[in-house]
Amino acid sequence: MSLGNVLITGGAGFVGSQLAADLLPETDHLYIIDDLSTGRKESLPQSNKVSFYKASITDQEVLEEVLPQVDYIFHLACRNLLLSVDDIEADFQTNLFGGYCLLKKTMELNPKIKRFVYTSTASVYNNADILPTPESYYDISMPYAASKFSMEHYCHVFHHLSRLPFTILRLSNLYGPGQLAVNPYCGVVAKFFEAAAAGEPLIIYGSGEQTRDFTYISDGIDAIRKAASHPEAAGNVFNVGTGRETTIHRLAVSIKDITGSDSPFEYQPERTIDTVTNRCLDTKKIKTELGWNPEHSLEKGLKNTYEWLKNQ
Ligand SMILES: NC(=O)c1ccc[n+]([C@@H]2O[C@H](COP(=O)([O-])OP(=O)(O)OC[C@H]3O[C@@H](n4cnc5c(N)ncnc54)[C@H](O)[C@@H]3O)[C@@H](O)[C@H]2O)c1
Repeated sequence: MSLGNVLITGGAGFVGSQLAADLLPETDHLYIIDDLSTGRKESLPQSNKVSFYKASITDQEVLEEVLPQVDYIFHLACRNLLLSVDDIEADFQTNLFGGYCLLKKTMELNPKIKRFVYTSTASVYNNADILPTPESYYDISMPYAASKFSMEHYCHVFHHLSRLPFTILRLSNLYGPGQLAVNPYCGVVAKFFEAAAAGEPLIIYGSGEQTRDFTYISDGIDAIRKAASHPEAAGNVFNVGTGRETTIHRLAVSIKDITGSDSPFEYQPERTIDTVTNRCLDTKKIKTELGWNPEHSLEKGLKNTYEWLKNQ
């Protein structure tokens, strides 16, 4: 598949940098806009086909320079869940206002855009009482969920007003190579691996019996590719998960087994963001309509992650 020119916002982050490396061979030119608030420039692939802009997605001048040139947009830039409770306004500025700026400028400057892929989040389900949770469900309490879900609505609005060919993916707990524990807001998998390697305690908030639906990065990237290329994906919202629940305690045990670490577990009180007891996504829609299937079991994904970490 030839993608022409591609923009990835948030391309210096975990998912964005892995997506950039994956798409680069099929891309004429890759534009990355990232303010490096949590991302790292070193995570980007080195190539003269890559132009990097250290800028916010609210920067009108940068948007005016880049947007007319691209065929596909992958909008990943975000303030994360943890930061959202400390500074609601900054979350709003990036996740909603920044997303809105990007949509508005895209339709002004590049109405023939081939696809606008937006990575939303399973956080819009909060502590769902339907498991596995289908795309029709929502329960908003965190600022991050509110801003990400509202941005989904604006994708629909621009689709209605200007035929924006968007696809929304609700990702669930991505992990794997490229997720760096130097980012203090990285996911639990990277944190557990780092603690296990250092012989430090694996910190578990709450009982450890809470579950998450962990998705391996290359499966997530495959879903993002299908969102961009599949004709049935335009104008649609899809869950991206495995449909399997894993307790945080089970995850910690698996990582200790894989690394051979004798780190203890340390239980700490739940934080403000710890509102989810069970998470498991219903992935029937993406399987049936886009033919996507996660290829990696958690065990396989964790082993791959450990191999990657050993070479860092
Ligand atoms: N990683 C996951 O488990 C997960 C789960 C659900 C949804 N998502 C979504 O996937 C996307 C990527 O997540 P990630 O894990 O790679 O996050 P990340 O924090 O690693 O990457 C986000 C990137 O956005 C950049 N950024 C932040 N504010 C910006 C701004 N105003 N302008 C430009 N760049 C800005 C950061 O510097 C960072 O490089 C996000 O949209 C996130 O909501 C991720």
